[in-house]
Amino acid sequence: MKFAGAHILSIDQFERGDIEEIFRVADEMEPYALRRKVTRVLEGAILGNMFFEPSTRTRVSFGCAFNLLGGNVRETTGVQTSAIAKGESLYDTARVLSGYSDVICMRHPEPGSVAEFASASRVPVINGGDGANEHPTQALLDLYTIQKEIKAKGGALDGLRVAMIGDLRYGRTVHSLARLMALYKNMQIVLVSPVELAMPEKYIEKLREAGHVVDVSTELTPSIQHVDIVYSTRIQEERFASKEEADLYRGRFRLNQAIYTRYCEPNTVIMHPLPRDSRAEANELDKDLDENPNLAIFRQTDNGVLVRMALFALVLDVVDDVDKHAQRVNWYHTRG
Ligand code: NCD
Repeated sequence: MKFAGAHILSIDQFERGDIEEIFRVADEMEPYALRRKVTRVLEGAILGNMFFEPSTRTRVSFGCAFNLLGGNVRETTGVQTSAIAKGESLYDTARVLSGYSDVICMRHPEPGSVAEFASASRVPVINGGDGANEHPTQALLDLYTIQKEIKAKGGALDGLRVAMIGDLRYGRTVHSLARLMALYKNMQIVLVSPVELAMPEKYIEKLREAGHVVDVSTELTPSIQHVDIVYSTRIQEERFASKEEADLYRGRFRLNQAIYTRYCEPNTVIMHPLPRDSRAEANELDKDLDENPNLAIFRQTDNGVLVRMALFALVLDVVDDVDKHAQRVNWYHTRG
């Protein structure tokens, strides 16, 4: 695809070569993310970071990624503090905000809302999550992390064995990740969820059409025994009619070090898009996994900055100029 000026709305817009390009550019961003160098390549550019739904890491990492390329960030958080609360349409909001920004990242609770917003925007729009639909940049950072982790252990993406666990019905990260995995070959994928929270059939079909072997299960321990990646997810409480309904499913798939040691292969990588629900009744990934070197959750969040920098560099067409605008780092830092 042509990245310059493009919206990033769905994993479906990519071919495998596009993913490889994003990952190659993400690798090039590492010296900047590790503060070995700074670049001013986006000096003067403005990111409109529009989050109409709760977010910590996606919003902040988009902002940091833009700052690390030398650009400025303007933010709106929450529907209540924006003019949407006064009844303004997505069309009007997009026309206005795209007059202020060079690129916009947006999260919104309605599926399809970010695409609707993008169709009225005068600048590229990146989807930071639209309801239960998609979260393409999360899937990209997840697969980028999987590739790094697996390569370090001598493996490859083709042939990967993955267990996706939790709320596969409402979890947009697993929807986008499934679309992304459909670009690869020969994977063995086990989908573990309560029956009511199963992965929608359209994603399962996509994976099977790609030639992957897909199993569906309601049991954690048999499903995590022969996999390279355990990808756990949170029950998406905000998408249920009530907290009580979400409570019915919380805590079904708890992973801790004892279960990991007993059932998983020694090198199995543990992932989660975060936030992990650490309340006692949920405890998706126990604290006692924090010392496990195969717990990759904070490598995922670090990698998110690289992938988001890569997307900005590609969409704003500055990939070849990043190093030309490099400078030394002036301050004491403890990274890399
Ligand atoms: C996810 C999301 O918002 O979909 N969080 C994130 O962006 N890392 C997952 C979640 O909220 O459970």
